[in-house]
Amino acid sequence: SIQPVIMAGGSGTRLWPLSRAGFPKQFLSLGSDDSLFQQAVARLVGLGSADIAVEAPLIVGNAEHRFLALEQLREKGVEPAAVILEPVGRNTAPALTLAALAATEGGADPVLVVSPADQTVTDQGAFTAALQKAVRGAADGAIVILGITPASPETAYGYIRSTAGDGLHQVAQFVEKPDAATAARYLAEGGYTWNSGMFVLRASVWLKALAQFRPDILSATQAAWSGRTPDARFIRPTREAFLAVPSESVDYAVMERCPGSAFDIRMVPLDAGWNDLGAWDAVWQVAAKDAAGNSSVGDVMFEDSRNTLVHASGRLVTALGVDNVVIVETADAVLVADRERSQDVKKIVNRLTSEK
Ligand code: GDD
Ligand code: MG
Repeated sequence: SIQPVIMAGGSGTRLWPLSRAGFPKQFLSLGSDDSLFQQAVARLVGLGSADIAVEAPLIVGNAEHRFLALEQLREKGVEPAAVILEPVGRNTAPALTLAALAATEGGADPVLVVSPADQTVTDQGAFTAALQKAVRGAADGAIVILGITPASPETAYGYIRSTAGDGLHQVAQFVEKPDAATAARYLAEGGYTWNSGMFVLRASVWLKALAQFRPDILSATQAAWSGRTPDARFIRPTREAFLAVPSESVDYAVMERCPGSAFDIRMVPLDAGWNDLGAWDAVWQVAAKDAAGNSSVGDVMFEDSRNTLVHASGRLVTALGVDNVVIVETADAVLVADRERSQDVKKIVNRLTSEK
């Protein structure tokens, strides 16, 4: 069977000031009725077919957002298998390890379909077809990653070099977040896809790979898991033990080290209108726009402006004579930025958190 795992514990700082520590971007609705988290859950719940059963999803997130997650699941009528609560963020490798430990309770070894909670996909049919192909490969023991045709030399993604061919491409190299020059070279060379951040693999395969590449993360996470306190709705790993877990992403901890190792790592292309809403520019890219390329949410008026995104939460916002600008108004903070500098919003957030 398929065990969906949603990693929902990120902070989403580049979508400040809408995305906040107490309400990070995965729980926001950006141009849709459903939040990004709800969309991710719905995509995975919809993966079943006549020969593949889908279990209730496992959610791994931060304790601070437990009621947000629970309420958003309830709104969609989804009963999770469990909501695992991290007392602090230790990035995705420990998060996936908690899910794998939960999934292997009682000796089971399901295929985990692991998804971020901060993306959009427009073509569910193509998504389901690609994921089902990945699930079949993972059932045979492979680690399968979903690759996206790159559109630009983005530095916010992992890059996968794989051999051509139908179906399950052999992965020759995985490079997490290369610098701009390297990313440009990869695009010029060809043969690379972006890592979508979705991983499909058996729970036991993840635990084996982590045991080989980062035994320190595995043992520290196991210690926190073994002292867990399950209550009616949530599973809480031991706080003190989890604080000692090294912080690392799935990509750095394991994926980069798999090519050329004994682990069979494969890539399945995903052509399903995937978008990672990493920063405001990406929100503008996918949003509905008027003839001048402007997009707005809330009470907004444009005059002689182009390719501008305005998100008004409470007040009327007017834009006059501006091009390629992002304006995000909230009750206590307003962002005005060059749309092409969207990635650097995290610099502002870093300054705000270090200066306060
Ligand atoms: N439970 C939990 N705990 N979830 C987390 C944590 C954590 O400590 N940190 C991040 N997450 C969640 C985020 O909420 C998000 O849904 C997902 O895990 C991925 O984390 P990001 O922090 O958004 O990763 P990224 O965007 O920098 O990079 C990843 O995704 C790219 C595609 O969007 C990598 O996998 C890249 O290789 C990939 O290209
Ligand atoms: Mg992300």
